Amino acid sequence: MDIDRITLNLRLNINLKKKLKIAIVGIGLMGSQHLRAISASKKAKLHSIVDVNKKSIIHAKRFKVPFYKTSDELIKNNKPDAVIVATPNQFHEKHTMSFLNAKIPVLLEKPISDDISKAKKNYLKLKKK
Ligand SMILES: NC(=O)c1ccc[n+]([C@@H]2O[C@H](COP(=O)([O-])OP(=O)(O)OC[C@H]3O[C@@H](n4cnc5c(N)ncnc54)[C@H](O)[C@@H]3O)[C@@H](O)[C@H]2O)c1
Repeated sequence: MDIDRITLNLRLNINLKKKLKIAIVGIGLMGSQHLRAISASKKAKLHSIVDVNKKSIIHAKRFKVPFYKTSDELIKNNKPDAVIVATPNQFHEKHTMSFLNAKIPVLLEKPISDDISKAKKNYLKLKKK
């Protein structure tokens, strides 16, 4: 995953002198790849990790960042500059919508949803805001 592409997209909104703080939601196979990309980037750093599996706290401990069990906890406690959503497909829409509604930019793993018509409706609604 190209973290530099995310930083490019956010360039207008974020103070470039600081590293972009990115949270990872779902630290399985793909989340771990994103973690590797963030730790290798000069423009980004890990903000926090969200995962329902409490064993995943090991990654947060390793990078000395907060660990949350739900995306709502993250939004309520400590907003990141951006999030990467790498949870199973059935949670993509719920997670993405909650972050976008909180005005947090999202990089979402494919597919955008497991229900394309619902996804279209929701994302179009957001576009009009
Ligand atoms: N594996 C691949 O090669 C690949 C490639 C491209 C895209 N993707 C997409 O990436 C996404 C993740 O795939 P993966 O292979 O990493 O899956 P995975 O099962 O390895 O990881 C999913 C992680 O999400 C966590 N999780 C589950 N429900 C959660 C919830 N409600 N809130 C927070 N965390 C939760 C799990 O504990 C796990 O750590 C999928 O949507 C998949 O389609 C996967």
